[in-house]
Amino acid sequence: MTQTLTLRRPDDWHLHLRDGEMLKAVLPETARHFARAIIMPNLVPPVVTGAQAAAYRDRILAALPEDMRFEPLMTLYLTEDTDPADVAAAAASGLIKAVKLYPAGATTNSASGVRDFDKVRGVLEKMAEIGLTLCVHGEVTDPEVDIFDRETVFIDRVLDPLRRVTPGLRVVMEHITTSGAADYVRGSDTDLGATITAHHLIINRNHILVGGIKPHYYCLPVAKRESHRVALVGAATSGDARFFLGTDSAPHTDPNKESACGCAGCFTATNTMSLVAEVFDHEGALDKLEGFCSLNGPAFYRLPANEERITLEKGAPVSYPAHIVSGEGPVTVFDPGFPLHWRVA
Ligand code: NCD
Ligand code: ZN
Repeated sequence: MTQTLTLRRPDDWHLHLRDGEMLKAVLPETARHFARAIIMPNLVPPVVTGAQAAAYRDRILAALPEDMRFEPLMTLYLTEDTDPADVAAAAASGLIKAVKLYPAGATTNSASGVRDFDKVRGVLEKMAEIGLTLCVHGEVTDPEVDIFDRETVFIDRVLDPLRRVTPGLRVVMEHITTSGAADYVRGSDTDLGATITAHHLIINRNHILVGGIKPHYYCLPVAKRESHRVALVGAATSGDARFFLGTDSAPHTDPNKESACGCAGCFTATNTMSLVAEVFDHEGALDKLEGFCSLNGPAFYRLPANEERITLEKGAPVSYPAHIVSGEGPVTVFDPGFPLHWRVA
């Protein structure tokens, strides 16, 4: 007998769609299963103003195959020159659902991010006032700080002080990778949530480094030791509504990944639902999957959950293409290294 599981259609609360040929190639991979996604603004140049977000939204909708439905939830890339009035207008019109904070230099295309947090105080205060979410890439960029400690140090040095001086600011810690980040979320009020990726539920740093370097497992924040992965699985499967799925699916072409200086990012859009279902099943927590993928995110963003349903079926191992084809080159699909038994019917 086939085991099935029906969920409200999921959303992805952290997604990189890129632009041009890459956008065309990766958008259907997300729209096939997800109703909505928070669209990351780290294009080159970044999506900084409401007008730029509106234009990007139009390009996304133009790239959507006719037989698919998908709602891009737009974000603005916070810079030291961001105008609080422009942010407020873009939020009031319904165009944007969040603003993204990249510490300058923290990750792919983050050069225009924030260096001096005093310079964004006005924007953050306006956001707290209007209830607009700040999505945070939570890593310090101080070269003195070990890359495996950058999330932990960010919480102490930047995030906690920033939240204290901006009461009421709603914050999502994006793609958390440590037990300390999960604990910090649990110890906070309901103004703080966190996204967790599928790949951080699956890989630890050994997967990246043992037996030869695996560029397709390299992303930022980099996967940490096994105890942290276990803590993330615990948070995701706990039913705590402050944790929800944000895939951080981040396409880079194979030549750009398999290089002497490979780009950070795992591409998971194609098989995310199979990945997370496998993890939740392994934990005996399939009853928490709908919360994590379809309910907790909308609740945090104060949006309705999707009415439509999807059905997952468990059976013989599912196979996915090793890579998807884009006009810019092939993009490798994340390989968990174990068989996946759940598919979206
Ligand atoms: C992302 C990208 O490629 O845009 N890369 C990644 O490793 N996650 C940027 C980001 O979210 O850090
Ligand atoms: Zn990201």
